Amino acid sequence: MDTSHVARWSFGIRVLHWVTFAALVAQLGIAFGRMGGMATMRCLPLHMSLGLTILCIVLLRLGWRAFAQAPRRQEALPLQPSSVLVHASLYALILAVVITGWMAYRPMPMMPAARLFGSLPVPLAPSVAEIPARELSIIHQGLVWALLAMVGLHLIAALMHATILRDGILSGMLFGRSKMQNNQVD
Ligand code: HEM
Ligand code: HEM
Repeated sequence: MDTSHVARWSFGIRVLHWVTFAALVAQLGIAFGRMGGMATMRCLPLHMSLGLTILCIVLLRLGWRAFAQAPRRQEALPLQPSSVLVHASLYALILAVVITGWMAYRPMPMMPAARLFGSLPVPLAPSVAEIPARELSIIHQGLVWALLAMVGLHLIAALMHATILRDGILSGMLFGRSKMQNNQVD
C-alpha cells in the first residue's frame, strides 16, 4: 500500500500516548492486583493520585491535540470515521472513569486527608445525595470495563494496520518513522 500521503503524529503526542498507556497499566495493576477488602483503604490514596495524574496527562494531550492535526490519511470510508469514534470514546471513557472515581472517593474517618502523592490537598467531590458512594464505585468499575473493551478494539485496529493494511500507522505511533516523512505534523 502506498503510504507516502500519510503524515506522522508529532513527537509530543507520541510521548503522551505511551505515557498514558504506561500510567493506565500501572493504575489497573494497582486496582486489580492490590485493591479489595481492607487493602483498599491502604491503596486508595495512591490510586487516587495516579488517577488524577492520568487526568492531567489526558488534559495536556487534548490541549496539544487541539493544535496538532491528526495525520492525513486516505483510508476507505468506514475506517476513518470508526477510528475517530474509537479515539474519541477512549478519551471520553478515561475522563468518565476519573470523574466517577473522584465522586466515589469518600475517605474513611481514620484515613489521612486526600493529598496528591502525599503533598497537594485534593478537594473531595460534593456528595450527590441520591447516589451512594457504593453505587458510584460500581459505575466507576463498569466504566473501567467499558474502557478496557474500547482499548481491546483499539489494539485490534492497531494490529490490523500493522498486519493487513500495512500502512505504517503502528510504526508511526511506535517509532515516529514510517514512509511518511515529508508531511510531518509537529
Ligand atoms: C483512569 C483512572 C482509573 C482507573 C483505571 C481506575 C480503576 C479502578 C478499578 C479497576 C477499581 C476496582 C478495584 C477493585 O477491584 O476493588 C477502582 C475502584 C475505585 N476507584 Fe478507581 N480508577 C481510576 C481513577 C480513580 C480516581 C481518580 C479515583 C478517586 C479520586 C478513584 C477512586 C476509586 C474508588 C473510590 C474505588 C472503589 C474502591 C472500593 O471501595 O472498593 N479511581 N478503580
Ligand atoms: C490504554 C491504552 C491505550 C489508550 C487509552 C490509547 C489511546 C489512543 C488515542 C486516544 C489515540 C488517538 C490519538 C489522538 O487522536 O490523540 C491513539 C492512537 C493510536 N494508538 Fe493508542 N492507546 C492505547 C494503547 C495502544 C497500544 C497498546 C497500541 C499499539 C499496539 C496503540 C496504538 C496506537 C496507534 C497505532 C495509534 C494511531 C492510530 C491512528 O492514527 O489512526 N495504542 N491511541
